[in-house]
Amino acid sequence: MSAAFNQPAVSASTSPSLSGKKVVVVGGKTGIGLGVARAALAAGASVLVASRRVASIQDRPDLAGFEQVGLDMRDEGSVRAAFEAIGAFDHLVVTAAPDLGTWGNFMDDDMGGARSYLEGKFLGSWACARHAAPYLKENGSITFLSGGLAVRPKIGYAAVTSAFVAVEALAKSLALELAPTRVNTIRPGFVDTDMWSFLPGDARECLKDKVKETFPARRAGTAQDIGHAAWFLMTNPYVTGTTIEVSGGENLVPSVS
Ligand SMILES: NC(=O)c1ccc[n+]([C@@H]2O[C@H](COP(=O)([O-])OP(=O)(O)OC[C@H]3O[C@@H](n4cnc5c(N)ncnc54)[C@H](OP(=O)(O)O)[C@@H]3O)[C@@H](O)[C@H]2O)c1
Repeated sequence: MSAAFNQPAVSASTSPSLSGKKVVVVGGKTGIGLGVARAALAAGASVLVASRRVASIQDRPDLAGFEQVGLDMRDEGSVRAAFEAIGAFDHLVVTAAPDLGTWGNFMDDDMGGARSYLEGKFLGSWACARHAAPYLKENGSITFLSGGLAVRPKIGYAAVTSAFVAVEALAKSLALELAPTRVNTIRPGFVDTDMWSFLPGDARECLKDKVKETFPARRAGTAQDIGHAAWFLMTNPYVTGTTIEVSGGENLVPSVS
């Protein structure tokens, strides 16, 4: 066996740096996206966070290290204009999604809620990739976000499950169509972010307690856990067309919610 064959592409003893790279995180001002943005910044990248709201540094001093751009992933014109303004960059991560509670049940009177959710999550992720792709530099990557509902459906969440599965399928298709740009998906399990703020305080704490008792990792996921996975996908040059589940083993135990 040749020495070259034994040589790992990325040394396990070093932390690959994103120094000199530019990373765009759509949805990067809150929750999981902020965890991804912070991980990229810590690895040396310059990081731009994009979503509907542009926050003042007075209101959000924690965003001082990031460039910000306004972008509504439901509006293709807004997405196109944002990436035209951003110009060349290295890695795109799309964590944004429509607010919870807007997807609609299967037996709702009309399909407005389902259309709205799929339009936001699936076609919004599509639009970001489509209009970012011309600006991605060599060795660049795209990372989407799905969720455990992709493989563990629940009654009442058909639109979310469908959107997540569609996003994962899109990543695989684009790994071929945009090659050698690498395209992957992170599939988080329960991550304790403000997405869960619709639950009353005691219900949220109760859910976290159940997670702690039952998940093999014995704790709730954090935005940093997902940020670490995004960093891995940006820096490992040989991972493409795949979905990484980061769920503390949620896939191995009965549902807690
Ligand atoms: N947290 C979990 O337990 C969990 C688990 C599995 C999967 N997920 C998935 O992970 C994603 C993000 O979750 P999260 O916990 O980070 O939620 P989050 O904190 O509520 O973040 C959602 C982000 O999306 C942005 N956004 C919403 N609509 C947008 C639009 N039309 N255009 C551009 N940006 C938009 C929001 O920013 P603006 O308001 O500024 O636009 C916000 O920054 C979702 O897809 C969710 O389904 C979450």
